[in-house]
Amino acid sequence: MATFTRRSMAFLALAVVVLAGAAVDAQQLSPNFYSKTCPSLATIVRQGMASAVQKEKRMGASILRMFFHDCFVNGCDGSILLDDTSTFTGEKGAGPNANSVRGFEVIDAIKTQLEASCKATVSCADILALAARDGVNLLGGPTWSVPLGRKDSRTASQSLANSNLPGPGSSLATLITMFGNQGLSARDMTALSGAHTIGRSQCQFFRSRIYTESNINASFASLRQQTCPRSGGDSNLAPFDVQTPDGFDNAYYQNLLVQKGLLHSDQELFNGGSQDALVRQYSSNPSQFSTDFVTAMIKMGSLLPSSGTKTEVRLNCRKVN
Ligand code: HEM
Ligand SMILES: *[C@@H]1O[C@H](CO)[C@@H](O)[C@H](O)[C@H]1NC(C)=O
Repeated sequence: MATFTRRSMAFLALAVVVLAGAAVDAQQLSPNFYSKTCPSLATIVRQGMASAVQKEKRMGASILRMFFHDCFVNGCDGSILLDDTSTFTGEKGAGPNANSVRGFEVIDAIKTQLEASCKATVSCADILALAARDGVNLLGGPTWSVPLGRKDSRTASQSLANSNLPGPGSSLATLITMFGNQGLSARDMTALSGAHTIGRSQCQFFRSRIYTESNINASFASLRQQTCPRSGGDSNLAPFDVQTPDGFDNAYYQNLLVQKGLLHSDQELFNGGSQDALVRQYSSNPSQFSTDFVTAMIKMGSLLPSSGTKTEVRLNCRKVN
């Protein structure tokens, strides 16, 4: 009995050590994570994003989307930034990313600056989280303090990128399920979709909506048809939001109310379903949208790689050390 108890105690002690190890792995994120080791971090990222957005406003949107596509694939671990090598194919070539996600050179430029000021210190995953926040803010959206301390993955998963990211033809039920799979609520999903108040979409992703759907404003559909023909022009761009294409505001929801959602998946949020009331709220209450968007961004940004994933602080965001 005494032996048994001692063994149980030993097991318990071991379990505590293992759990503590896991807790250190899945680090608690904190806005002050680099305050001693890289005090210039926020300024460097801000400047990098400011100059990118000054060159091209859309870049604020592109980086925000890159962050979303990073976080939904084994957590926010910079996996989307890895280039293919001879031994593995990364996420850049996945369906939702190929010829679509853009802005990698902006992250590279910021990383170069950071390596000069704070060598081997700041993870690419954290750079992306800060850059996405700054992209939103530089286009007129809210700002918030970003919890930091993410590590970079040593691998990427093209198959998870293909299966975890929702497509433009998704139904409301599918959207709710796919965000739910990441621990995000329907409310988080609807708030995060407000990201489509900025940026552009290629014709191929909204063609079927503008030619075949009935829950679309007719003059909006014919406007979009002018630059998105029935065949050809797949990569022609249209803004998500007609009025303020580069302004981060709540116009996305106002557009949904008048059936001017660009993607099928956008209009699904206001098509007689469970999110209608929330879309109405966000359309008339910009500060409610702002608050919920920030809450959901922090939540999405807290998705971490599954425990046991090998991580590091990459020196070059495109390749493992
Ligand atoms: C709800 C499910 C979502 C679907 C089905 C979806 C789908 C898409 C599609 C098809 C595009 C156009 C890509 C292209 O033309 O190359 C796009 C663009 C974009 N998405 Fe989403 N998205 C979703 C959620 C989100 C979320 C959660 C965010 C960020 C929080 C986001 C941010 C963006 C931004 C900013 C753009 C414009 C990018 C640019 O102009 O470069 N999206 N999305
Ligand atoms: C569609 O949008 C146009 C232009 O904004 C507007 O004048 C028209 O009333 C809308 N049509 C419907 C049926 O709401």
